[in-house]
Amino acid sequence: MDRSLALDLARVTEAAALACGRWVGRGDKISADDAATTAMRQTLSTLQIDGTVVIGEGEMDEAPMLFIGEKVGSEGYRKVDIAVDPLEGTILCSKGGPGAIATIAIAPEGGFLHAPDMYMDKIIVGPAGHGCINIDDAPSVNLKRIAQAKNCKLEDLTVVLLDRPRHDDAVADIRQCGARIKLISDGDVAPAVATGILDSGIDMVLGMGGAPEGVLAAAAVKCFGGDMQGRLVFMTDEERQRAPKMGITDFNKIYTAEEMAQGDVFFAATGVTSGDLLRGVRYFSGGAETHTIVMRSKSRTIRFLDTLHYFDHKPTYE
Ligand code: FBP
Repeated sequence: MDRSLALDLARVTEAAALACGRWVGRGDKISADDAATTAMRQTLSTLQIDGTVVIGEGEMDEAPMLFIGEKVGSEGYRKVDIAVDPLEGTILCSKGGPGAIATIAIAPEGGFLHAPDMYMDKIIVGPAGHGCINIDDAPSVNLKRIAQAKNCKLEDLTVVLLDRPRHDDAVADIRQCGARIKLISDGDVAPAVATGILDSGIDMVLGMGGAPEGVLAAAAVKCFGGDMQGRLVFMTDEERQRAPKMGITDFNKIYTAEEMAQGDVFFAATGVTSGDLLRGVRYFSGGAETHTIVMRSKSRTIRFLDTLHYFDHKPTYE
């Protein structure tokens, strides 16, 4: 794929972050998400791709924009799969909490797992932990292998988990082995990406979160050469009936990042609120600054972009 697509994707996530940036802390996650989705869709439509949304805002009947199956771009260009979360961490944004991002990933057609809107059990590490994880092992067993691979103490490692009762056993096991824990209220994509950034202070992301978010994380993991395993968690009969329609037949399959995001993959995210990975949107008189990460699996390049936007020239974001 054309490598300049990376910069185009940065424009897409910047637009989404700038649009919902005005909604930070205003207690209205729906309007924040709508603003991000509208801006993302508008910017995406200008790209020279023939894309299909495979991870999006929901099914066609429940999401007006960027729904699963929606065509984006124009015919005649390269056919791609698109995974989006215009505002990952809607509650974080509405409360002004840390780590909300606008994010997108692109793969060649057929490259992304069509993950239904359900849960996925995940374990994610950066490149140094590649080959050290097994989702069926206790967290402490995985952490011991990672400490060995990183040549550090267990006490030096930090694991991020969503702060949910379903993770109580994992938390107890991690605490018992001595590793550090960061419990987050929402938004498990940003910490997944942070595992791939050397000085982020995040070594592992563990536990059950959204499956669509799992595919976005897989795209990022593939770009920085980390390691990930994910297994869908079926909670209802409806989920079991729906999965085969999305091409999922083995309900116990453990997916690697490579299986969830195949081929030449691009990933971009822009901070909406500040977190371990990115700074949030910051306003100054007449404009705003955004902080974005863009990666491509083929080159393994990781770029951070600090971008200044002047509203005189971009009145839409004022
Ligand atoms: P939204 O952006 O849709 O609000 O999702 C946020 C999120 O925290 C994800 O990052 C995470 O994977 C999922 O929700 C966790 O789901 P739950 O809140 O049901 O545990």
